[in-house]
Amino acid sequence: MSISVLVAGGAGFIGSHLVDRLLRRSDVERIEIVDNLWTGRRENLSHIDDPRVSLTIQDIERADLGRYDEIYHLASPATPLSYMAEPVRTISANVCGAIHMLRALKPGGLICYTSTSEVYGDAEVSPQPESYRGSVDCTGPRASYDESKRCTEALLLEASRVHGVRVKIARVFNTFGPRTRPDDGRAVSNFIAQALRGEPLTVYGDGQQTRCWGYVDDIVDALERFFWRDGVEFPGPLNIGNDRQISVADVARYIAANYGGQAGVNFLPPVPQDPDNRLPDLALARAHLAGWRCQVSYEEGIDRTVEWFRRELAATCDPRSGLHRVGGIV
Ligand SMILES: NC(=O)c1ccc[n+]([C@@H]2O[C@H](COP(=O)([O-])OP(=O)(O)OC[C@H]3O[C@@H](n4cnc5c(N)ncnc54)[C@H](O)[C@@H]3O)[C@@H](O)[C@H]2O)c1
Repeated sequence: MSISVLVAGGAGFIGSHLVDRLLRRSDVERIEIVDNLWTGRRENLSHIDDPRVSLTIQDIERADLGRYDEIYHLASPATPLSYMAEPVRTISANVCGAIHMLRALKPGGLICYTSTSEVYGDAEVSPQPESYRGSVDCTGPRASYDESKRCTEALLLEASRVHGVRVKIARVFNTFGPRTRPDDGRAVSNFIAQALRGEPLTVYGDGQQTRCWGYVDDIVDALERFFWRDGVEFPGPLNIGNDRQISVADVARYIAANYGGQAGVNFLPPVPQDPDNRLPDLALARAHLAGWRCQVSYEEGIDRTVEWFRRELAATCDPRSGLHRVGGIV
């Protein structure tokens, strides 16, 4: 069988790792990536030299699309720095992007969406199961992201209920690893970039807020299993993340101690509506993805990410590093 695939947001952090996994499939004939490079980077795909892959630089909601057997919708910034700066663009990428892509799905095709743990808002329960309806402020500073994710979930599940479209929705929790942008503004990338520059690490608030830091290989492994590999029929939403809670301050201290020399940690006022905790209830994920579990500790994940950041920084000093190839596109 010859499968045609669309990956919206494929030049991003998680999207580019998902493309790597898709390329392992012998049934995939072509992969069209549409990405406007808002928060993604062409370099995330520079290692790919496969004629099945093409990259179109465009807004997904306006792209001239073909027809696809499988569509992966990851087109959305994930960092508050970007979605708080451009809320309308964020809503458009998620919601209008999904509406546009639904029209490009072949009959019987599958559309997969990366939603987020942010749909739970400032959660009043911990851990958060998929059945928890969340505590989201639709007038708050994070609303463009949280609410467009919620709306897109509703849109896809209604398309499934009313029109029989095959959908899969993953609620992804905090993910980090190679190919995050050093200027992405989230805790791990911030801390690493600051440590490597010899600057103090910035923690917003008292640092006692906890997160579950999922290393990208573990998270993409779960996405791959859910979306195509394990024959899962469940549409979701399905929580995907690491369920080991670590405080932001502990992560900062680990990076400062191992990579930051004498730089130390600076505490600044908290970011508005930064949730106190994020903890996935993974019971459903374990039921549907037999044998899956996060294997990479946050310490190991950080060590690998630091190595990647170091190589990136060295490469950006190489004038030839501007030449990157994706399929036939330079
Ligand atoms: N990284 C995380 O911790 C995390 C957590 C929960 C959910 N997610 C979700 O996973 C997906 C990928 O996140 P990521 O961390 O890889 O972020 P990312 O910013 O690295 O990737 C998003 C990609 O989408 C592209 N994009 C944005 N708007 C677009 C548009 N209108 N048209 C075409 N391309 C567009 C960006 O340029 C980027 O390449 C997002 O949907 C995000 O909401 C990520």
